[in-house]
Amino acid sequence: MTKVAVTKRVHFNAAHRLHSSHLSDEENARTFGRCNNPNFHGHNYELDVCVEGEVDPITGYVVDLRLLKQIVTDRVVDYLDHKNLNLDIPELDKSNPTAENLVVVIWGLLKDHLPQKLCKLVLWETPRSYVEYSGE
Ligand code: NI
Repeated sequence: MTKVAVTKRVHFNAAHRLHSSHLSDEENARTFGRCNNPNFHGHNYELDVCVEGEVDPITGYVVDLRLLKQIVTDRVVDYLDHKNLNLDIPELDKSNPTAENLVVVIWGLLKDHLPQKLCKLVLWETPRSYVEYSGE
């Protein structure tokens, strides 16, 4: 059988503030720059969800992309879109809401709920910067 990876891209907006209680105000400002602004700011996130599986000999599909989009919308987009990541998302209560920490949270929201194996997430925080996570 032939294994192929298939990716669906979704979009959401969310606000955050990067700040660590382990650092002084000066260190926070130096480390996180404008992302440390006290009153939060927004990002337009793009999320690529990659699943991998056998190509079905009848349909020619690895996964029905409409179904994949529905699951990602229900479990991730509707949960995060237009939220404040510092205040509204319990999974980020104890961690700084960086793209790195957020992609790990998203992995947990998805991994047991997809019809095929989740192989990679790519989370774009800006058009020029992204993080990747494969569950390791
Ligand atoms: Ni930011």
